[in-house]
Amino acid sequence: MANGFETILYEKKEHVACVTLNRPQALNAYSVQMRDDLYEVLRAIKDDDEVRVAIVKGAGDKAFCAGADLKEFLTAPSAIEARQIRFRRDLWKLFLSVPQPLIAAIHGYVLGSGMEIAACCDIRIASEDAVFGLPEVGLGIIPGAGGTQTIPRLIGVSRSLEMLLTNRWIPADEAYQFGLVNQVVSKGKHVKTAEEMALKIASFNPDAVKRAKEAITRGIDMSLQDGLELEKRLTLGRRQPRIV
Ligand code: CAA
Repeated sequence: MANGFETILYEKKEHVACVTLNRPQALNAYSVQMRDDLYEVLRAIKDDDEVRVAIVKGAGDKAFCAGADLKEFLTAPSAIEARQIRFRRDLWKLFLSVPQPLIAAIHGYVLGSGMEIAACCDIRIASEDAVFGLPEVGLGIIPGAGGTQTIPRLIGVSRSLEMLLTNRWIPADEAYQFGLVNQVVSKGKHVKTAEEMALKIASFNPDAVKRAKEAITRGIDMSLQDGLELEKRLTLGRRQPRIV
């Protein structure tokens, strides 16, 4: 499939889409252009019935994503202004509204917004060289890509606070113990493992897959009673995609 993006690569094969963060010279740092490219590609994925699963990965040997592009971010007139520019498009809400499963294939540095992008995905496969960190507070800011909400839902409040308030970076095996990643695989095998998993998911009924994802990802934010109602509706085949 044609690409046409500046900061990402997009491919689609056998019902599996693959989005590659593609600024390896800057460790795939998240720039305003990357926000726009991801926004466009995620909207396309959402509306594409041929896509049953999508993988998000990073180009190059060193990083999934080393966080916000600091050259861009720190040269903005102020951190607030830099944030406001980024909030003009709510990429994170869009990420979390994609009905198909998203698998993050992670290696190397996974920092700041990089960790938040991974947290917006449903399943995380990490290469053993992956390192996770939240440097924001050390830079005088707080995460603004959903991380204060998504990450505690994955690893709990006190582990999230420890990572954020102390800027301690954790290796892949500790991320696995925390429940931040589903699997740790040998160095460089993360993409192949993610592809195998994606093909397996893509072999199942796509509507059942979407309903299963919706039941769990929406239900987790509801009371048990409301969650059970949601499950009942979805069991009867009534999906209600979130509108972004
Ligand atoms: N933004 C822009 N460029 C970055 C970058 C970033 N976040 N991280 C790395 N790069 C660039 C470097 O400037 C360097 O470019 P040049 O060769 O042109 O100088 C290139 O990528 C390679 O990086 P290093 O030479 O620094 O590689 P290293 O192996 O020595 O160190 C690293 C790797 C420890 C990740 C280090 O690059 C680093 O600390 N990067 C910054 C990490 C960070 O703090 N990210 C921001 C998190 S906060 C956030 O994401 C929230 C938010 O919204 C603001």
